[in-house]
Amino acid sequence: MSRAKMPPQIFRLVLLTLAIIVSYLIARYLLTPSTFRQYGFYRGDALAELSSRTPVFAGRKSCLECHEEIQTKLFKGEHKTIGCETCHGPSSLHAADPDSEAKKPDKRNTTACIRCHEANPSRPVTQKQINIRNHYTGQKCVECHVPHQPNEVP
Ligand code: HEC
Ligand code: HEC
Ligand code: HEC
Ligand code: HEC
Repeated sequence: MSRAKMPPQIFRLVLLTLAIIVSYLIARYLLTPSTFRQYGFYRGDALAELSSRTPVFAGRKSCLECHEEIQTKLFKGEHKTIGCETCHGPSSLHAADPDSEAKKPDKRNTTACIRCHEANPSRPVTQKQINIRNHYTGQKCVECHVPHQPNEVP
């Protein structure tokens, strides 16, 4: 009895599968960056690239150096847990060069406030919320609220 012969259509499928595997291996060889797996399952160069970026946030401690009175004020009110740069935006350029007009932090009035205070059903009910469409529309929040001490009336 002769050995069972592989039917030709199965043989073609096997060839096709092999061709796919081989082209995948070639592509992987050619496309994998050289430092991949240097430290782990990622590109080793990525570490150096990320650490060479300049940080845009300076952190609250660095603001203290020159704005201590604001920090003291902030700590007395309901915004005590909020970082300066949450409202003022990334300010490391300003902290390094405070005299530059161009690098001054943003005052971000209303946009900063409504990010936390605009009524939203997904927020905890204990969080103080307003509906910007009927909460004194057309006026700036800081006309009636002190951002560094929100429980105070200006
Ligand atoms: C080395 C000192 C220094 C550091 C550090 C510093 N500032 Fe300032 N900042 C100044 C000076 C000087 C002014 C300009 C005088 C003023 O308006 O009070 C100023 C002004 C500002 C203003 C007002 C801008 C405007 O348009 O009037 C904001 C907001 C501000 N700083 C935020 C920050 C934040 C946030 C940080 C921390 C990331 C910070 N500063 C760190 C010195 C500093
Ligand atoms: C809840 C948002 C918020 C936080 C948090 C906040 N600020 Fe402000 N800050 C503002 C707004 C809004 C103004 C503009 C006030 C105005 O135009 O009357 C302002 C104004 C300022 C000014 C200009 C001078 C002044 O007193 O009006 C400085 C300087 C400043 N902030 C620094 C800081 C520093 C430093 C911190 C952190 C200790 C901080 N801010 C935290 C919203 C905030
Ligand atoms: C990062 C989030 C955040 C931002 C941005 C923010 N707030 Fe608040 N705000 C809070 C939290 C947290 C409280 C404390 C009460 C609560 O849980 O709602 C509060 C409380 C308040 C209160 C209530 C004070 C009281 O005693 O009833 C006012 C008014 C207020 N904020 C105004 C503002 C204004 C104006 C701005 C913009 C300059 C602003 N907030 C930006 C988080 C934020
Ligand atoms: C014309 C003055 C005025 C303006 C402008 C104004 N508010 Fe108010 N806000 C008030 C008064 C008065 C209260 C307290 C009574 C009330 O809830 O209406 C209040 C209350 C709040 C509260 C606390 C709500 C609570 O549940 O206790 C938050 C948060 C608040 N305002 C945020 C803002 C923000 C953010 C802006 C800017 C988009 C803003 N306000 C603009 C006058 C003002």
